[in-house]
Amino acid sequence: MNITIFGTGYVGLVTGTCFAEMGNQVTCVDIDEEKINQLKKGVVPIFEPGLEELIQENCKQNRLNFTTSSSVEVQNSNIYIIAVGTPMGENGEANLKYVFDVAKTIGENITEESIIINKSTVPVGTAEKVNQIILDELNKRNIDCEFHVVSNPEFLKEGDAIRDFMYPDRIVIGTENEYARKVMCELYSSFSMKYDRLLVMGVKEAELTKYAANAMLATKISFINEIATLCNTLEIDVDEVRKGIGSDKRIGYSFIYPGCGYGGSCFPKDVQALIHTSIESGIDPVILKAVEVRNTSQKELMVNQIFEEFGNDLSGRKFAIWGLSFKPGTNDIREAPSLVIIEKLINAGAIIYAHDPVSISEVKKVIPEPWAKKIFLFEENQYEILENTDALLLITEWKLYRNPDFLQIKETMKSPIIFDGRNQYSPKQLRELGFTYKGIGR
Ligand SMILES: NC(=O)c1ccc[n+]([C@@H]2O[C@H](COP(=O)([O-])OP(=O)(O)OC[C@H]3O[C@@H](n4cnc5c(N)ncnc54)[C@H](O)[C@@H]3O)[C@@H](O)[C@H]2O)c1
Repeated sequence: MNITIFGTGYVGLVTGTCFAEMGNQVTCVDIDEEKINQLKKGVVPIFEPGLEELIQENCKQNRLNFTTSSSVEVQNSNIYIIAVGTPMGENGEANLKYVFDVAKTIGENITEESIIINKSTVPVGTAEKVNQIILDELNKRNIDCEFHVVSNPEFLKEGDAIRDFMYPDRIVIGTENEYARKVMCELYSSFSMKYDRLLVMGVKEAELTKYAANAMLATKISFINEIATLCNTLEIDVDEVRKGIGSDKRIGYSFIYPGCGYGGSCFPKDVQALIHTSIESGIDPVILKAVEVRNTSQKELMVNQIFEEFGNDLSGRKFAIWGLSFKPGTNDIREAPSLVIIEKLINAGAIIYAHDPVSISEVKKVIPEPWAKKIFLFEENQYEILENTDALLLITEWKLYRNPDFLQIKETMKSPIIFDGRNQYSPKQLRELGFTYKGIGR
């Protein structure tokens, strides 16, 4: 099949590459010239395990190509995938500007019956708006050509995106049109060989399914974080409680790990967008609002623990941070708890030495100029940043931090204090080794 994808971010790039891997002819379009130039040279702008090799191989086989100009490619294809960003707007709503821009481009170019697949996470009713924009453009051109807008939300997770795309739990397809359903089944047939993973439903149901899924996962995280806060006050270990409830199959172990808050490009903005949709619909989203409130306080928890230990004035204090990306396996730092924690510590006078295996260049893009002498970033040796530090803060649970040399850590630091924002270490072991240990709800 000939496929054109708009947007070469985490979703567009993985989707395009995986469809090419299955033998389709894929053109990826982006407005970011630098990104496209890099991709043409085989340089992948994001860190996603396994992606670079797959891109290079599919480019070599001429199944995958990249471009900034959309008109030529659009005319050679009849399947268009929208995978552009839908960032948070001023009032928490999803900003649909990029989606609508792509819809306009498609309307300006299509000449034959086409399927327009929306993979971006968008509020209920967006497919109708995309439909109208394309229709308006066709009318302007005086062209009468059929097209069908399908909702096909994406559920991949960064860090495991290729596997999630190749072996999805389910493929949600929102369409009421029989021809579109048939094309979508064909498009995804290679990903549904073992058993049928397709869930075909109404367009609006598909649009809401994505938000409901992310909101449910965020709710689980905020729930366990609330339980962890209670554990802290009651002086009991939330990790025992976590195992106690996770073993119940109705609850499960996933997404009930306490920590210093969820971040990323999806959960925070999607919870906000769903709150916005609910309020607009006259519903008071009490649960979603609480999920959001708990997460905000969770990002501040470690800073409060530090203030308790050292006082509110951190001038002259030096802290080491392990992990900056919003989670392991990605260089994505959007809404990362690390950024909130760093900002608060620097504002209180601290100096930060931070290590992350892949996100340093991303962090450099966003740190404000006044911080230049207050934050130092490293991606090689995780131990070299510990020299003379007052405490070590574990913020992202990369595997390389999981079982470190604690004796070396203790010898290098000024004072052996660990703030474990991901409950990775054993409080008992660390206390026996002479550390002061502060976890989340432990
Ligand atoms: N990142 C994830 O893990 C994930 C998972 C599931 C769903 N989603 C959703 O998928 C969508 C995309 O997310 P992402 O993280 O891949 O975004 P991203 O920000 O990484 O990438 C978006 C890309 O779209 C490009 N773009 C903007 N306007 C364009 C246009 N008119 N034509 C062509 N390209 C254009 C941008 O330059 C950018 O490269 C969002 O709605 C997001 O919520 C993301």
